[in-house]
Amino acid sequence: MKLTYYGHACFLVECNGKRILFDPFITPNELAKDIRIEDIACDYIAISHGHADHIADAVAIATRTQATVICAFEIYEWMSKQGVANFRPMNTGGKWSSDFGSVKCVVAQHSSCLPDGTYGANPMGFVFNTAEGDFYYSGDTALTMDMQLIPRWAKLKFAVLPIGDNFTMGIEDAIAAADFIQCDKIIGVHYDTFGYIVIDHEAAKQQFAAAGKELILLNIGETIEL
Ligand code: NI
Ligand code: MN
Repeated sequence: MKLTYYGHACFLVECNGKRILFDPFITPNELAKDIRIEDIACDYIAISHGHADHIADAVAIATRTQATVICAFEIYEWMSKQGVANFRPMNTGGKWSSDFGSVKCVVAQHSSCLPDGTYGANPMGFVFNTAEGDFYYSGDTALTMDMQLIPRWAKLKFAVLPIGDNFTMGIEDAIAAADFIQCDKIIGVHYDTFGYIVIDHEAAKQQFAAAGKELILLNIGETIEL
């Protein structure tokens, strides 16, 4: 399984020969100015919620690649009005099996509306079960007791959690979340993009290490094998 980081909370996971892109926000991100969305190939696009910093490039990439967009029903309605054709509209609690394995939509404690003010449904996280291993992307969220349910559904190889604080969990709560989900390998996202969420990388990694966990912070454009 491979993961490529595109900045903020956008990343691509390759598993079972399929490419799943998460929360595309690249062209408005000054830190990701070297990434060209035209170069990104994907079979699926998973969108956690409607905020612009998770959906900005979704219509452009979905239109070009014809990828299947996995998102809340209300986000499906909004994107389909903009010409996107292929979807799996879902909602929290729902699970779907496809050629990559399966995805289950789970609770995220956050807010959600689309960039033009349209209602964006409840935000969600995703639990993936695949032949190459299971992983969890929480989306933007606070630490929630509901995360204790995740081990019922998956034995996580890694998890992607927001760590930037202010709008989502910060480091301390992300470490507690890693305990709840029983996962020691965390890829941090949703930090540094805006002034409100700038973090000290080394201090963050040390805090995770002190809790017996690994925090991986990738360079934008970097790919790792998991
Ligand atoms: Ni958000
Ligand atoms: Mn966000």
